[in-house]
Amino acid sequence: MRRKNMKKTAALFLLSVGVNCMTAQDIVPVHEFDIDIQKVGSPIQSTMYGIFFEDINFGADGGLYAELIKNRSFEFENPWGGWEPFGDVSIAEKNPCFNKNPHYAHLTYTGQITGTGLENEGFKGIGIKADENYDFSLYARTETNNPIKLRIELVNRDNDIYETQHLEIKGKDWKKYSVILSPKATEAKSRLRITMETAGTLDMEHISLFPEKTFNNRTNGLRRDLAQALKDLKPGIFRFPGGCIVEGTTIATRYQWKNTVGPVENRPINISRWNYTFPHKKFPDYYQSYGLGFFEYFQLSEDIGAEPLPVLNCGLSCQFENEGMDQHVPVDKLQPYIDDALDLIEFANGPITSQWGKVRADMGHPASFNLKFIAIGNEQWGPLYPERLEPFVKAIRAKYPEIKIIGSSGPDSEGKDFEYLWPEMKRLKVDLVDEHFYRSPEWFLNSAKRYDSYDRQGPKVFAGEYACHPTNRENSFLTALCEAAFMTGLERNADVVELCTYAPLFAHVDAWQWRPDLIWFNNLNIVKTPNYYVQQLYGHNAGTNVLPLTMNKEAVTGQSELFATAALDKGTNELIIKIVNTGIQSKKIQLNLNGISSGKHKGKLMVLHASDLEAKNTLGKPETVIPIESAVELEAPATEVSVQPLSFLVYRISL
Ligand code: AHR
Repeated sequence: MRRKNMKKTAALFLLSVGVNCMTAQDIVPVHEFDIDIQKVGSPIQSTMYGIFFEDINFGADGGLYAELIKNRSFEFENPWGGWEPFGDVSIAEKNPCFNKNPHYAHLTYTGQITGTGLENEGFKGIGIKADENYDFSLYARTETNNPIKLRIELVNRDNDIYETQHLEIKGKDWKKYSVILSPKATEAKSRLRITMETAGTLDMEHISLFPEKTFNNRTNGLRRDLAQALKDLKPGIFRFPGGCIVEGTTIATRYQWKNTVGPVENRPINISRWNYTFPHKKFPDYYQSYGLGFFEYFQLSEDIGAEPLPVLNCGLSCQFENEGMDQHVPVDKLQPYIDDALDLIEFANGPITSQWGKVRADMGHPASFNLKFIAIGNEQWGPLYPERLEPFVKAIRAKYPEIKIIGSSGPDSEGKDFEYLWPEMKRLKVDLVDEHFYRSPEWFLNSAKRYDSYDRQGPKVFAGEYACHPTNRENSFLTALCEAAFMTGLERNADVVELCTYAPLFAHVDAWQWRPDLIWFNNLNIVKTPNYYVQQLYGHNAGTNVLPLTMNKEAVTGQSELFATAALDKGTNELIIKIVNTGIQSKKIQLNLNGISSGKHKGKLMVLHASDLEAKNTLGKPETVIPIESAVELEAPATEVSVQPLSFLVYRISL
C-alpha cells in the first residue's frame, strides 16, 4: 500500500484508540526491553491457547460436519425443508425406520409426465469436486416385492448432470442402500436428484451424501479442510458445543448431549438457537442434526491434540434471548440435569462396564477420553445461576473430585452482573471462571493490563469467548493486531489465565448470523482470517513458562504503542519473545538478554504485518495477511532490533 494511504488509515486507527503518534521528523528513540532468562516464572498451561466451537453460522451442519444433505431425515418443522419433491410424494411416519426420527418420504410412480422423486439443495448448494468420490446412502423399503430402480444424480443449477448412478430397492423391510458418486466437475452449488425409474411405491429415509475423504478418513466424518485448519492451530483446549445453543431459546430446545450419541440415524434433531435470533438474518432452515455430536467432539479433541471441555446446561434457557422471560428449572427439579453432567463424565472416562462407558465403547472408543474439565452454564447471570450451579458443584466434587469445574461470569467483561458473579464463583470454589468479551479495539488495547491486578488466590480465568469488534464487525488486520496486543496480557498473567478461546470459530459465507469469525468458508474452500494467524502464532509459540520482560522496569502494556511478553520453552530450550507495535512508526528496541551466554543465538522470526489496517483475507485473496518467517540471530547480552509499524512479531531463539 502507498505510504500516504497507509498513514491515513493508520492515523484513523490511532485516533480511534487514543494513542499518540510521532511525526516523521522526530528522532526515533531506542526502547530497552529487559528479559531475564534465569528468572523462570509461572507455568503456561499446555491448555492456554485453544478453540471454541459452536454451531452458529452453519458451523456444524453445512460446515465442519461433512454431511452434504440438508434435512436428511425429513424432521424439520417443514418436513420438505431443503427438499423439492416432484410427482406423487408425501411425508409419512407409520412403522418408521428410526423411532426418534420417525418421518420419511413416501413416493409413488405411475408413469406421470413429471416423474416422481426428490431434489435436495444441500446447505446453500452441495459442494462437489471433480474426481473425488462421494458416498450416497439411504434407507428404503418397497410396498410390494417388486424391485424399484432409482436414478441418483448430481446436477447443477442449469440442470447439467455431473454424475448418474442407479440403485435397486428390493423388499418390504427397511434396508440401507449405498452407491458411490464420482462427479465429473467441480461445483459449489450442485443439487442431488433422486428419480424413480420403475413404477411402484416406496419409502425413503435418512438420505445422506458424504465426501469419501473426511478428516482422518472417518465415517460420519468431518470436512477435511476445516478440521485440518483447527489442528493447524495446535489448540490446547477444545470448548464445545456452545455458547447460547447450550442454553437453548427454551428449556425444551436446550442442547442435550444424550441426544447426540449412539447411531447417527436415530439422533433426534433440534432446532438451532440461531435460526430466528436476528430479525435481519433469519434462517428457518437452521437445525442441528447432531450428526456431529458428543462422541465426535471428543474424538476430534483427541485427533487435534486438545483437551476436551464440554459445556452443559445448568437448568436455565438463554437469558440473553429471553430478557426476563427466561425459563428456569426449579432447583429441586435439577437432578436430571445434574445426572446429565455426571453421566457425561462417565461417558468420557468411565470403564466400558459402566452404562455410559459402554455407549462410548460401542461407538468405537473403548479407551477413556480422559476428560479433565467441565463447564456448567454459559452466559448466565443473577442469583438464578449460582443457586443452580451449587448442587452441580457438590455432586461433581463428590463423585469426580479430579474434574475441574468452570463457572461463568456472565456475558459482560465488567459491570453489575460481572461484579456479582465473581464473588459467587469464589464462594462456590469453582476452579475456573469463564469470561467473555466482544469489545472494541480500544477496549482490547486498554485491557492488556486487565489481569495484572487479578486476585492470585481465587479461581483461575478462562477467557472463553473473545473477539475484537470494530464498528463494521469485519475481520480485519486491525482486529487481529488488537487481539495480539491484548493476548500479551493473557500470557504475562499465565498464573491467573489458564485457558483462552476466540469466538466464534466458523462462518459460512452464505449463511452466517454473527461476525467477526476466525475461519470463513464456502462449500469448497476456506479462508483463514488475520485473526486466525494471531491465534496460530500464539498456539505454536506458547512456551512453558513466563519470563520477566520489562521496559523501564514495567511490563510493556501499550507504552509507546508497544506490547510484549516473553516465555521460555523448557521442552525445546528456546526463548520466545512476542512484540506488538500498534504505532505507525517503526520502533527501535534494544533487547537486553540477561542470563544467557554472550554471543549470537540463532532462531527464527515470524511477522504478521499489513500496512492497511483494513486489510482482509478473502476467498479470492486468502493470503493478503499471513505470517512471514525468516531466520534471525540475536546477540546476548544485547541486540538492537527494528520493529516495523503495525506488526506482530514472534522471535523464537535457541538457547
Ligand atoms: O459466540 C457467539 C455467542 O456469543 C455465544 O453463543 C454466546 O455465548 C455469546 O453471547
